[in-house]
Amino acid sequence: MQQNNQKPATSPRKKILVETWGCQMNVADSEKMLGMLQDQNYETTQSPEEADLVLLNTCHIREKAKHKVVSRLGRLREIQKKNKNMKIAVAGCVAQAEGKKLLKQTGNIDILVGPGKIDDLPKLIEENQKTGAQQLSIGFKKAKDHEEETKDTKSKVNPSLAGKNTVSRYVNIAQGCDNFCTFCVVPFTRGREISLHPSKIIDDVTQQVESGAREVTLLGQNVNSYGHDLIRSNKLELTNDGPFVNLLRDVAAIDGLQRLRFTTSNPHDFTLSLAKLFRDERKLGKYIHLPVQSGSDVVLERMKRKVTVAEYYERINWLQKASPEIAISTDLIVGFPGETEEQFEETVELVKNIRYSFFYAFKYSTRKGTAAARFLDQIPEEIKSRRLAKLMAVQDKITIELNKNEIGNVREVLFQYESSKEPGIYYGRTEQFRLVRVKSNHNLVGELRMVEINDANKTALVGSLL
Ligand code: 5AD
Ligand code: SF4
Repeated sequence: MQQNNQKPATSPRKKILVETWGCQMNVADSEKMLGMLQDQNYETTQSPEEADLVLLNTCHIREKAKHKVVSRLGRLREIQKKNKNMKIAVAGCVAQAEGKKLLKQTGNIDILVGPGKIDDLPKLIEENQKTGAQQLSIGFKKAKDHEEETKDTKSKVNPSLAGKNTVSRYVNIAQGCDNFCTFCVVPFTRGREISLHPSKIIDDVTQQVESGAREVTLLGQNVNSYGHDLIRSNKLELTNDGPFVNLLRDVAAIDGLQRLRFTTSNPHDFTLSLAKLFRDERKLGKYIHLPVQSGSDVVLERMKRKVTVAEYYERINWLQKASPEIAISTDLIVGFPGETEEQFEETVELVKNIRYSFFYAFKYSTRKGTAAARFLDQIPEEIKSRRLAKLMAVQDKITIELNKNEIGNVREVLFQYESSKEPGIYYGRTEQFRLVRVKSNHNLVGELRMVEINDANKTALVGSLL
């Protein structure tokens, strides 16, 4: 069944180690790169000592990103003294933003490939093997390249190469972002927003479902503004609900798909139609990640988020009306330039009011080239750390309370994997995206089962099968 069988039995398989940092987009990109490399006879390894190729898929969203890559390359240089065959490829947003400097500074990168150019990776590896010369492909993907991709390729998933979770998969639906929030480097590293055509996405998801996926998460930096570029270029019709809601409906109709999620949504592009879909489309589940970044209007304005706190609450309200049990998570930044103690306290208030199921909170990190890097009133590191610790303590309490509230409930759980350390322990997620741990004598992976929740802590619920 596997295409690798077409390779002569004598050709030894090469080993690849992939390290993925950062967002789900990078996770999806890593899986895509692994999928493409199946034709080059690679299998995965966890050990750099035996790897023929180490692929670092890097993230540039916060400071010290380049630092981290340089230090990892230093460590790999030591290992290369013993494993002389090891080639190194650097992909992702650090490759895009700092790649040329890295090439000069480090001396052991064989291949450099930006996030818009990952389709070039097999060719770059081949060329490097043939000539021994450093290979480089960075720059942004153009709408034209996307069209070509739509026509010519299907994303390949080789189950032996892709990540261990074959039940829940990521599918990229758009690249880049047009928003230019003043703190964010994404529009500079990933370029302007380009959406894939719905037909290509339907094909991708169908393929994933055929190869065992039961849940997909559609990915975009600003996922709910999906398709506006396609409307502008007359590739899609303008409709009342908008291209993203239409796409979700079409994807949800795919047979065999049991759950559909998406990330990351932006409150600015969040419509009432999208909220209502949580009422009408059962597969959508009862969970959304909706980053707010701050609970202060003054800070939101300086971040250029283009929504007020009141507008954010309004969207939360739409969602809770459409789906009363919906769980919500968010992203927050503390210590944005100029953030006063009072403005920070407004964020604490918002967190207490909304009662997120969890959040990702970050200390503001200066990114070269972004507007906020030029703001004069930067906040000292110790204040940022204190604010972050306070916010996390507030959230931890809420997370534990919400998880404990689940005790006694019966939830539908999609099981995703068996614990590698504890055989017979299976992990899955409820519709609200809460992690559930269950003991079972038979393999639950891929099954959707009703589970009674018996216990809970900060990170997971513990349940038993009904
Ligand atoms: N500093 C701190 N956090 C940031 N994020 C993005 N840029 C920065 C930055 N410069 C956070 C935001 C975003 C998440 C992916 O990363 O909260 O939603
Ligand atoms: Fe960055 Fe803002 Fe775009 Fe999100 S919406 S990727 S935070 S610029």
